[in-house]
Amino acid sequence: MLTSLAQAVYLVAALLFVLSLAGLSTQETARRGNLAGMAGMGLALLATVLLAADVSERPVPVTLLLIAMALAIGAVVGTWRARHVEMTQMPEMIAILHSFVGLAAVLVGYNSFLTGEPDAVHLVEVFLGVLIGAVTFTGSVVAYLKLSGRIRSAPLALPGRNLLNLAALVVCAGLLAWFLAAPSVLPLALMTVVALALGWHLVAAIGGGDMPVVVSMLNSYSGWAAAAAGFMLGNDLLIVVGALVGSSGAILSYLMCRAMNRSFVSVILGGYGTEGGTTPAAGAGEQGEHRETTAAEVAEMLRTARSVVITPGYGMAVAKAQYPVAELTSRLRAQGVDVRFAVHPVAGRLPGHMNVLLAEAKVPYDIVLEMDEIDDDLAATDVVLVIGANDTVNPAALDDPSSPIAGMPVLEVWKAKQVVVFKRSMATGYAGVQNPLFFGENTVMLFGDAKDQVERILAAVPVG
Ligand code: TAP
Repeated sequence: MLTSLAQAVYLVAALLFVLSLAGLSTQETARRGNLAGMAGMGLALLATVLLAADVSERPVPVTLLLIAMALAIGAVVGTWRARHVEMTQMPEMIAILHSFVGLAAVLVGYNSFLTGEPDAVHLVEVFLGVLIGAVTFTGSVVAYLKLSGRIRSAPLALPGRNLLNLAALVVCAGLLAWFLAAPSVLPLALMTVVALALGWHLVAAIGGGDMPVVVSMLNSYSGWAAAAAGFMLGNDLLIVVGALVGSSGAILSYLMCRAMNRSFVSVILGGYGTEGGTTPAAGAGEQGEHRETTAAEVAEMLRTARSVVITPGYGMAVAKAQYPVAELTSRLRAQGVDVRFAVHPVAGRLPGHMNVLLAEAKVPYDIVLEMDEIDDDLAATDVVLVIGANDTVNPAALDDPSSPIAGMPVLEVWKAKQVVVFKRSMATGYAGVQNPLFFGENTVMLFGDAKDQVERILAAVPVG
């Protein structure tokens, strides 16, 4: 009875998850999408508790107590982390959370093998679940260590690294044959060691510039690991949710690769990108003279402008400049200036980073435009304010085939009449390459913390 009730609740939860993903596809509906997801997860937890109480061999109160303890620990740690994490630390937080999914799939796999039937289908489920889980686990740990700066983000280039990966997969195929012919923990454990090393090496070989794609790819892996755990546990909801996460992560990886003009395969086989935020190498910085400006001059420039486009980037997030930027936007709009935002798909450090910050500061959605929506209007724009963006407005991506970011679509802000770049120094952006935009004839640099500088401009722009 309880089991069939739980199955019915699972179905409703699965529908809510689909609605959640649909809601998350636009800013206007994202809040509703999140609520649907939370409701779905609440129902799923409830149904799982019912199911566990129904099938457990222990007395029901003991089962409920064990689950309550696990939930309490998870909820305390989760709430504490969620309250303290900075927006700029989100990618590393996501990476470490993926590692938990991977580890859970490995543990479920071992448990399922030790307690389940040794039929061939089940053994394949266990083997694949542990394999994907182990790769996800160490891959996510390395991504976390790189993103949080605990290890260098430069790619690890072992000789014959692609052959090493291939060899690891061949060894795993051999171990699967052994596991099916004579099911025992030994081939499973050997495969786990190989898969852990493979996950570590796969991500260690990828450079910092490609980390966002890697995190999204690991998100996809974590989904497949959860789906595999669903097969092992005979849990339909876990299969559905795992497949949703797996496929949406894969689609996101594809979209991000397209936004950076990188092929997925070349990302996986090792990419560019080093430490980020470095000063340009000697020679690389000598691209001409840059001109400095002041907040008062920028305020004057904005006073006479009819159209303004703001291109935010990672620096806006670091400075937490979105609030004064939103205030400046509303004051300029009140004076009849056409102000819009141009958001590059990989601006910041995680997908949708800028959109989240601007929504948080209550910038109206309809003036926040994607790159393709605004590119054609940039030439007719009076002033572009580049606030903490660098790589995403770098003309070298289009002009210099030898640049590490060659081919990446960028916002062509230099076409506007006047460009103001807000940053603290002449340091490079994430990909570690100098930006010829800073030396353009129509570009002026406004050095300093982006928040401080926007506040200084605000002081000179009248209210209403
Ligand atoms: P970046 O190229 O990372 O440049 C950010 C700039 O902000 C830096 O040049 C820095 O210059 C400036 N800055 C930092 N703190 C500041 C502050 N407090 N005030 C003012 N300026 C500040 O930015 P972007 O254009 O957003 O490009 C994103 C890059 O990150 C791309 O290469 C992308 O591939 C990569 N990436 C993207 C993601 C996703 S999914 N969005 C994830 C990871 C990596 P100063 O140091 O001189 O101030």
